[in-house]
Amino acid sequence: MDPTLWGNGMTERTIRIAQVGVGNWGKNVLRNLMSLPGVEVPVVAEADATLRQSTARQYPGVRVVDSAEQVTGDPGIDAVVIATPPRTHFALAQQALMHGKHTFVEKPLTLLAADAAKLVQEAEERGLVLMVGHILEYHPAFLRMKEMIDAGELGELLYAYSTRVNLGVVRRDENALWSFAPHDVSVILWFFGETPSQVQCSGQAYLQPDIEDVAFLNLIFPSGRLAHIHVSWLDPHKIRRLTLVGSRKMAVLDDMEAMEKIRVYDKGVGKGTYLGYGEDLSLRFGDIWVPYVQMREPLRAELEHFVECIRTGSRPRSDGRDGLRVVRVLECAQQSLKHGGKPVPLD
Ligand SMILES: NC(=O)c1ccc[n+]([C@@H]2O[C@H](COP(=O)([O-])OP(=O)(O)OC[C@H]3O[C@@H](n4cnc5c(N)ncnc54)[C@H](O)[C@@H]3O)[C@@H](O)[C@H]2O)c1
Repeated sequence: MDPTLWGNGMTERTIRIAQVGVGNWGKNVLRNLMSLPGVEVPVVAEADATLRQSTARQYPGVRVVDSAEQVTGDPGIDAVVIATPPRTHFALAQQALMHGKHTFVEKPLTLLAADAAKLVQEAEERGLVLMVGHILEYHPAFLRMKEMIDAGELGELLYAYSTRVNLGVVRRDENALWSFAPHDVSVILWFFGETPSQVQCSGQAYLQPDIEDVAFLNLIFPSGRLAHIHVSWLDPHKIRRLTLVGSRKMAVLDDMEAMEKIRVYDKGVGKGTYLGYGEDLSLRFGDIWVPYVQMREPLRAELEHFVECIRTGSRPRSDGRDGLRVVRVLECAQQSLKHGGKPVPLD
């Protein structure tokens, strides 16, 4: 296979990646893959004829075929990137892994935890990289926030709440919970470093039968921490905001802000200081700090990480196990949603 010359003078083998699905999001994935050094995309599979034509026109060097079977078994391919609707993820990823391909699957990894567990086992037995597109784990502002949490800058994390709402895109084959919440759940599990013991979710389907447009999800953690996630595609605002309350400081990550994505509030409540009639808690109102975040496209960083893991054999930050944890939470949330918001324990 063709060697690629890197800046340090070393030669590295080109990684050949096939992509399945070039729909609304898949287009962005392909654009990034095409521009990664040391990567080639010889073939793309897409079921839709119009998209096949436009992709072939845009990337004349790429063979565009109509079915995934034509690419997953191709011996010239090292890895497969799957950007198709979630209901297809399990079968396509299983097929790719069984052909010995490193596999990247868009979020959510699967729709059933049992299927996600099968993929994890398959990848681990074969020594293959299995990565899920939990893109916020590669987003510079979220990485900066994670650094601050790990450095103890907020003190002990107490609780968090996240809002991911806008008007549209209304999906027809998945609800707002499965469409949006994989992002928030993956981030909260990553920031908290623990898995919830109980999940509770309420929601409602207004536009289409049985497909919830809005969901309110509560995660209860063994440590006593709480997280709340509000997702909707039927909302007047476009909000992408995560609030973290720590024992020393509080922080807000607003992804709609172009520059000042993180604000750290030196605010809190101390115990034991008598302030006046009826008060034995002291409120602290300190400075608000905006840490500098060097932004870059999170999708590019995510795909670079996938390629790096293939080269080095290391485990991705959002590996199959991470994907499985998120699917388990969503599966319990879905159960709770369908049972009028009844809490569901996570085994
Ligand atoms: N990380 C993010 O921020 C983000 C954002 C949007 C979507 N996504 C994820 O990306 C995935 C795709 O979403 P989308 O919005 O692009 O959906 P989409 O419906 O626009 O595109 C999916 C494409 O896959 C094709 N397809 C389906 N089955 C196929 C098969 N067996 N073989 C070949 N092609 C097939 C369809 O023809 C379609 O063009 C989903 O998992 C979604 O959750 C991630």
